[in-house]
Amino acid sequence: MNTQDFTWLKKGILNELEITEYHLTSPKLHEEATAILLSDLHGTRYGKEFIQTICSYHPDFILLPGDIYDEWCDIQKTTNLLRKLKDIPMFYSTGNHEERMDEYFEVLEDLRNLGVHVLQKKVLSFSVRSNLFEIGGISSRLTEKSYEAKEINALYQTEGYRILLSHRPHWKNLYNAMEVDLIVSGHAHGGQWRMPGGHKGLIAPQQGFFPTYTEGLLKLKHAQLLIGRGLVKEYHGIPRLFNPPELVVIHFHP
Ligand SMILES: [Fe+2]
Repeated sequence: MNTQDFTWLKKGILNELEITEYHLTSPKLHEEATAILLSDLHGTRYGKEFIQTICSYHPDFILLPGDIYDEWCDIQKTTNLLRKLKDIPMFYSTGNHEERMDEYFEVLEDLRNLGVHVLQKKVLSFSVRSNLFEIGGISSRLTEKSYEAKEINALYQTEGYRILLSHRPHWKNLYNAMEVDLIVSGHAHGGQWRMPGGHKGLIAPQQGFFPTYTEGLLKLKHAQLLIGRGLVKEYHGIPRLFNPPELVVIHFHP
């Protein structure tokens, strides 16, 4: 914690955006590639600077593992943001909040019209120069037990680098059985409140107090699990505390 310039205080109280960069390597990759993870936006409006920041990384693709909209948000705020990013390939899986929306089907249609790949128990092959990625997604509508790892693993057909988008970070039994390289999720919003300089959140849905799965890169049996803290600045009147919204940049290396 830096007590000199009060950056930590601005981020902690004023919810200034924090950027976290991860470097992942794999023998399946032949050259560098970059992805951006945007999770749990919940219709939050971000301005021109946010778009410029994303573009400054020259991302090859964007991963959206759910809750970019919710049932109370202004749909146009998220749609406008995605429209400005539509030249970058985007891959999306649903979050629990989109699934509760009256406009659920409308929102999925809007996303498809913007060229976003909506992944509902579906895997797509996607080349980035000489790299082959297979990017899949599952919905958070079902429970962990309603998914068969075997069935999801079978959707991946190539020897490319395998990514799974799945909103809920705490489905550890399912994820430990997944034969993919990377799982990206969100949902826990970093545990909402933290102590200054700390990385332990106070509470998260389905995980209760002092949750385990709120941020960062975790090693699983076969895969790595990358959890975004989310971009929503406050959750319907409940502020984030010492838990700034997060833009995640993933650098892939051979
Ligand atoms: Fe969320």
